[in-house]
Amino acid sequence: MNTDHAFRPSDSLSSVRYEIRGHLARRAHELERQGYEIVSLNIGNPRLFGFRTPETMRLAMIENMSESEGYCHQKGIFPAREAVVMQQQARGVGGVSAEEVFVGNGVSELIDLVLRALLNRGDEVLVPSPDYPLWTAAVNLNAGRAVHYPCHPRNHFIPDPEEVASLVTRRTRAIVIINPNNPTGATYPRPVLEALARLAERRRLVVFSDEIYDQMVYDGTESIPMATLVHDTLCTTLSGLSKIYRACGYRVGWAVFSGRVRDAGEYLSALELLSSLRLCSNVPAQWAVQTAIGGHQSVRELVSAGGRLYESRRALLEATGRSRFLQLHPPTGAMYGFVGVDTAQLPDFDDQQFALDLLEQKHVLVVPGVSFNVPYRNHFRVTTLPDADTLRMVFGRIEELLCAYATGGAGVRAAGGAASGVAEAAAAGAAAPRVAAPRVAAASSAASNVVVKAQDRFK
Ligand SMILES: Cc1ncc(COP(=O)(O)O)c(C=O)c1O
Repeated sequence: MNTDHAFRPSDSLSSVRYEIRGHLARRAHELERQGYEIVSLNIGNPRLFGFRTPETMRLAMIENMSESEGYCHQKGIFPAREAVVMQQQARGVGGVSAEEVFVGNGVSELIDLVLRALLNRGDEVLVPSPDYPLWTAAVNLNAGRAVHYPCHPRNHFIPDPEEVASLVTRRTRAIVIINPNNPTGATYPRPVLEALARLAERRRLVVFSDEIYDQMVYDGTESIPMATLVHDTLCTTLSGLSKIYRACGYRVGWAVFSGRVRDAGEYLSALELLSSLRLCSNVPAQWAVQTAIGGHQSVRELVSAGGRLYESRRALLEATGRSRFLQLHPPTGAMYGFVGVDTAQLPDFDDQQFALDLLEQKHVLVVPGVSFNVPYRNHFRVTTLPDADTLRMVFGRIEELLCAYATGGAGVRAAGGAASGVAEAAAAGAAAPRVAAPRVAAASSAASNVVVKAQDRFK
């Protein structure tokens, strides 16, 4: 691209990536404009798959609309912050008051603010690999250096505290923990979290614990709040309305500080200054926080047997279990599967090429594993937000494509659209166009439930 020097973007963006909404999503958008129906499994947006925000939350916002016309306090409205304090108490986190709660425009905004308030050029932050890529991007954007600690597939994506400890240097300022994890769905056991807490305390690292999926756990798995384990250093717990409460469009998240808060006065003042610079976060939606956090938690039904998320996860486990090529460590939390491809069977498998082929040939959009800052190239992420039938249909298409790879070699480009039998075409050695003729009708009734309208792509 020939860019006029005057309009060149900042160099600070050169190391920043967010492939979840990157070129593949743009290509999917183009295909939709040509009339194709794309099954989009790239973004964890519950609304796109028919989930609704609990009605009481909508009502709380509407009832308080007239109270929402002005700026509010930079840290957020008091009832929302106080509700977060009570939630922390119920989770076993003591010693927190509304003073230590900051409400932001989603956890996303807070990730940027908490890092910006902390980092100097070259400071290192330990970030999991794979990670939710905003963490790596935000460290880099704020002049820090993301040092990835591996959560190996062979260890069910659970970090090894000793390996993490070996990466600490004198420049290390903080450790990011995402639990339950996006993209892997791993939920960390208590001894691992305790060991990470001791490491952070010993090396005086700030803990950033992203617990946005905390109540999304399956089959009796326990999601342990990091703040119950960290006492002798600063612990930051991040969560919000987007996932558990299916209200990602409300843009509400919170950061709660616990542990050695008394020694972190200057840091918290810096964070308050940054919060003041952006005046405040979206006010109307903050009124939904109290209603969300108190009382009945409808997410529990969704993640229990018979619940929508539970059954979709079950479909994912069954489909990958049946596959000749796929491997999956059963996710115990969150709403994703980080699926591996057996490279003994497909030695030339490349996650980015696969995601592109799957989109062009099968009209399914997934995120290649490399987008989550991993050094290997044989994984991809799907969300389990679609219903079970849709996931079964999607994995049928994935298996077809992988069969075509196996019979025709990794470079196979088979003819036809989503329903056109790529494997047979490949076996017949057909040299085929990348994209079939526009196919406006839904591939199946299940698929039609999740077809994303073009204008919704980036919601
Ligand atoms: C681990 C994790 N943290 C943070 C976010 C951002 O959440 P929010 O919608 O509150 O900005 C996401 C969104 O997918 C996420 O998966």
